[in-house]
Amino acid sequence: MAKPPQRLFISSEMLLVCGRKGAIKGAAANCRQMIRAAYKNARLEATVSWLDWDMSYSVKVKKCDDDHRKLFSLIKALHEAMKAGKGAQVLQQILKELADYTKYHFSGEEEMLAKTNYPGLGSHRAQHQQFVKKVEEFRQDAAAGKLAQTIAVSTFLNDWLVNHIKRTDQQYSEHLNANGIS
Ligand SMILES: [Fe+2]
Ligand SMILES: [Fe+2]
Repeated sequence: MAKPPQRLFISSEMLLVCGRKGAIKGAAANCRQMIRAAYKNARLEATVSWLDWDMSYSVKVKKCDDDHRKLFSLIKALHEAMKAGKGAQVLQQILKELADYTKYHFSGEEEMLAKTNYPGLGSHRAQHQQFVKKVEEFRQDAAAGKLAQTIAVSTFLNDWLVNHIKRTDQQYSEHLNANGIS
């Protein structure tokens, strides 16, 4: 997966404000804050653009691909909300949907793997359990008002797309297809 570009766009308005206040003590802090916000938005913008499911994520089993698409849409919804400055507001709802998602997707996937005696089921299931545990921790933190930064959740989810779907899930394609599941 291509990483979001590192480029930062600074608007003329920002430069004007920074220029006017350049001589005033404390202006540097304002500029830094604006630049940080612009940088964050630029990264979110770039991230949203690559959060579309494509064939490179296919595990060659329709039901699983459909479930994975749903995960992409949840993660994308979180990023769109973050971009609009509403990440914290939608976070609890997204986490609830993620918890529901893990119940039906992980159990469905594990059922297919168990039924076909997949040799890697144990380690695969362990990754699912870690994901469930992490989502639960995020939910508890969000409910307790501890999770101020939605970025931790989005980083964790983006990582999952690459490290689980593209590595662990895609390893079962051949096995399931050979057992008549596609
Ligand atoms: Fe999986
Ligand atoms: Fe999966």
